[in-house]
Amino acid sequence: MKAAVFDRFGPAAEVLSVRGVPEPTPGRGEVLVRMLASPINPSDLLYTEGQYGLRPTLPATPGFEGVGVVEASGGGLLGWFRKGKRVAVVNDGVGNWGEYTVAKARQVIPVPAGLPDDQAACFFVNPTTALVMTRHVLQVPSGDWLLQTAAGSNLGKMVIRLGRKYGFRTVNVVRRAEQAEELKQLGADAVLVSDDGPVAERVGELTGGGVRYALDPVGGTTGAEAVASLAAGGRCLLYGLLSGEPVPVDPRFLITGSKRVEGFWLADWVKAQRVPTLLRLFREVGRLIADGTLRSDISATYPLDRIGDAVRHAASGAKGGKVLVRLGSLS
Ligand SMILES: NC(=O)c1ccc[n+]([C@@H]2O[C@H](COP(=O)([O-])OP(=O)(O)OC[C@H]3O[C@@H](n4cnc5c(N)ncnc54)[C@H](OP(=O)(O)O)[C@@H]3O)[C@@H](O)[C@H]2O)c1
Repeated sequence: MKAAVFDRFGPAAEVLSVRGVPEPTPGRGEVLVRMLASPINPSDLLYTEGQYGLRPTLPATPGFEGVGVVEASGGGLLGWFRKGKRVAVVNDGVGNWGEYTVAKARQVIPVPAGLPDDQAACFFVNPTTALVMTRHVLQVPSGDWLLQTAAGSNLGKMVIRLGRKYGFRTVNVVRRAEQAEELKQLGADAVLVSDDGPVAERVGELTGGGVRYALDPVGGTTGAEAVASLAAGGRCLLYGLLSGEPVPVDPRFLITGSKRVEGFWLADWVKAQRVPTLLRLFREVGRLIADGTLRSDISATYPLDRIGDAVRHAASGAKGGKVLVRLGSLS
């Protein structure tokens, strides 16, 4: 079968090549999945650079999520139940950017029949993170303000639509002024362009003294501005490394008003949950993708053979949505 493979760490466009590799064999408790499509997420690009929280043994294939059809089970009741099903594949082992992959049976989630392949491919990473951070971890109350940076990201747009659905207000920081109108159309209550002046000052004026909830995937000065926008008792989740820079924080600011800065990683949160909680969560994610709240905008789909063009597009600025890799025939 064909797969995208890297033998050394580095920028995905430089280190990935498509080549013939042996089809993986599922062990007990695992399933073999014929892949249809997989998105290119920032985490996949960090993974090939060796900068992600998981570092593979090389050679390796990237691709943490995607959609496919379960072809065979390596044994076990759950795998047998999943046979023939179209599933979202969450993969932290073999990698999804190949014609076939192997994953644990409990990490393949049957997707609703009406969900198109491109949305099913993006079922897990962004939708679940947006929902879990706002509704489970921060539990932003209706009427309260949430600040987020990189608000024009795929995940940021989901947070805006969650705000509309559940009644919390969003103040959204972007680096490009031209994103403001689109985010307002989606339901953003306020959009601030980072270059237009100190963010924390403007947030203070807008919200009457700062926000109790903030999300930052950028780090560096942008992350520091998110932290500086907190009111007393406020919490800021740091959940990404987009700038690659550390967040400078003055401890005096955190001490007065007992503010908190915390890390969030979906993989850790999921591991700490019980199976019934996750089953309820995935049903909710499916419903919220179907009603548009957690849908992903897709900007382009590339065949596996053009993986270099695909990852270059995904790593570029102003790309206008998720870039997908097509691994099989899409419906
Ligand atoms: N911790 C977790 O468990 C978890 C789970 C899911 C996602 N994430 C993180 O969530 C973030 C968003 O993911 P996504 O898939 O939604 O991303 P995406 O659609 O690729 O969008 C990335 C966004 O970040 C902006 N950006 C990139 N570099 C920036 C910088 N240096 N300063 C300011 N803005 C910058 C881009 O702005 P332009 O439009 O101007 O280019 C774009 O809007 C990523 O960091 C990802 O790793 C974390």
